[in-house]
Amino acid sequence: MIKLSRISKEDIEKILNAALEFADGKVCKAKSDVFVSNLFFEDSTRTRVSFEVAERKLGLHVIPFDVQTSSVNKGESLYDTIKTIESIGIDLAVIRHSKDRYYDELIDADLALINAGDGIGHHPSQSLLDLMTIKQEFGSFEGLTVGIVGDVKHSRVANSDADALRRLGAKVHFSGPEDWFGQGEMMNGTYRNLDHLIPEADVIMLLRIQHERHSSEMQISDYLNKYGMTKEREKRMKPGAIIMHPAPINRGVEIDSDLVECERSRIFKQMENGVYARMAILKDALEKKGFEFEEIKK
Ligand code: CP
Repeated sequence: MIKLSRISKEDIEKILNAALEFADGKVCKAKSDVFVSNLFFEDSTRTRVSFEVAERKLGLHVIPFDVQTSSVNKGESLYDTIKTIESIGIDLAVIRHSKDRYYDELIDADLALINAGDGIGHHPSQSLLDLMTIKQEFGSFEGLTVGIVGDVKHSRVANSDADALRRLGAKVHFSGPEDWFGQGEMMNGTYRNLDHLIPEADVIMLLRIQHERHSSEMQISDYLNKYGMTKEREKRMKPGAIIMHPAPINRGVEIDSDLVECERSRIFKQMENGVYARMAILKDALEKKGFEFEEIKK
């Protein structure tokens, strides 16, 4: 799985339903030996750890790959690294890389590939766990209003989520600092003033300021009041509306620290769902390669 835009609406629904079944306690194990490796060329906590938990829950053999101590440090290219682990017997690789579209150079690889985030491109497993969290909450996407707020320009999460949400029937609006939106970067969503959007939205999805992708130092002292989830804005949200954030969170910047675990917040639920969404993604990718799973518990 490289990006959600390559996946049909029906297949997205199928993976979401599988993820929800895993959340309800379904247990599946691989019927044969399957070797997987997680290659993180960029930092991660949630994605890396939850992929590994998901892999172990599915009975896959997880072969450690530490970029810092690998031959990448001797100059080995991404392509040669992937061809190497494929030759050694790895059946599936999960890859995060700072380079946009790093996967283009891996088109000839035979092993299954899962994109765990490419530059400011896409983050499909985050999108699926976000979609799963919304579906768990509201049952469907039709007619929902979702506000994606913050550093849209540098966010691979915004990119992946906006497209999928629209295809599934939700209305997507963007908010945040206007000069972080350029021509053509609003992904067919409309830009809205945050204070107008807040009382209409069913979901407010806050984005982390991607300090590592900004060329100059950010002035963040006034960000919370101007563009963040303050206590006053939370009070003006619709009954039943929820707050999401892919994390890591800049507490007191994108969201008041006291709201991170408030009743409306689904931030830690998103992380929990990340394991189930990734189990469904891994199973789907491996089944497409001919591997079989047995159902141990419905
Ligand atoms: N949301 C997310 O991708 O978190 P990590 O960078 O910790 O994996």
